[in-house]
Amino acid sequence: MAKTALVTGASSGIGREIARDLSARGFRVIISARREERLRELAKELGDNTRVIVCDVSDREECLRLYEETKNEKISVLVNCAGFGAVGSFDELPLDTELKMIDTNVTAVHMLTKLFLKDFVAADRGYIMNIASSAGLMYGGPMMATYYASKTYVVSLTSAIYEELRARNSRVHVCAVCPGPVDTEFNDVANCKFGVSSITPQFCAKKALVGMFGRKLIIIPEKSIKALYAGAKFAPRGMVLKVTGKVQKKKLDK
Ligand SMILES: NC(=O)c1ccc[n+]([C@@H]2O[C@H](COP(=O)([O-])OP(=O)(O)OC[C@H]3O[C@@H](n4cnc5c(N)ncnc54)[C@H](OP(=O)(O)O)[C@@H]3O)[C@@H](O)[C@H]2O)c1
Repeated sequence: MAKTALVTGASSGIGREIARDLSARGFRVIISARREERLRELAKELGDNTRVIVCDVSDREECLRLYEETKNEKISVLVNCAGFGAVGSFDELPLDTELKMIDTNVTAVHMLTKLFLKDFVAADRGYIMNIASSAGLMYGGPMMATYYASKTYVVSLTSAIYEELRARNSRVHVCAVCPGPVDTEFNDVANCKFGVSSITPQFCAKKALVGMFGRKLIIIPEKSIKALYAGAKFAPRGMVLKVTGKVQKKKLDK
């Protein structure tokens, strides 16, 4: 019987490519997002055994429903990819947008990781991939404050769970994927454009899966971002914040 994977945020960008890559690796894939039409198109491409679940993960009840509807499917890979960002100064961005971002990028990832992890631990197998961002590795993101904070939560949570599992010799693996700019619909949603070069979602998905099955904790797909992160660790916090703020502000120069 084929192994089964659940991918949230599978209607576009990185999540869609991860679903395609998992399918090519022989997984039966359960794909989830809000846009049903997109999911149905992808399901047609991936084959008859693909399951579509329309779900708005910013709603806690919907996260619970997603778990309830899939908990008996013997899922061995969970990919929490649904997420979005918004660019602008903290005092100007609408509170509603930010709360929805926290619900999607933080609460849903927290809930689904906890719900599935319990089952994975009981079976002593399984992988959880949380799509964070290089934003989650920095000191904070002026002009994208809530987004950076949300991704820092994901990196921190995932790292702590990783160590809890490692300390008890669990075979369950969790990881956080931390890409820099990826060419997806992210910018359309955030209403901005990247000031620096981006990688393709295909490349990002491939690196993410190789890293996860290689049991890495933090997966940074691009060499340039790895180097940037390594450098930032030694630079003063104030300087890193200043540079990060300038890079984010450029995103508004459309
Ligand atoms: N692109 C980048 O530069 C970049 C860099 C680092 C990290 N990331 C992260 O990568 C992840 C995927 O983003 P992407 O770049 O692939 O952007 P994208 O093309 O806009 O894809 C975002 C996905 O998330 C889903 N989604 C958003 N809100 C949702 C909700 N409330 N409920 C269910 N699904 C929801 C969207 O589906 P529906 O709209 O159909 O619901 C879509 O499938 C995000 O977590 C993002 O923060 C992106």
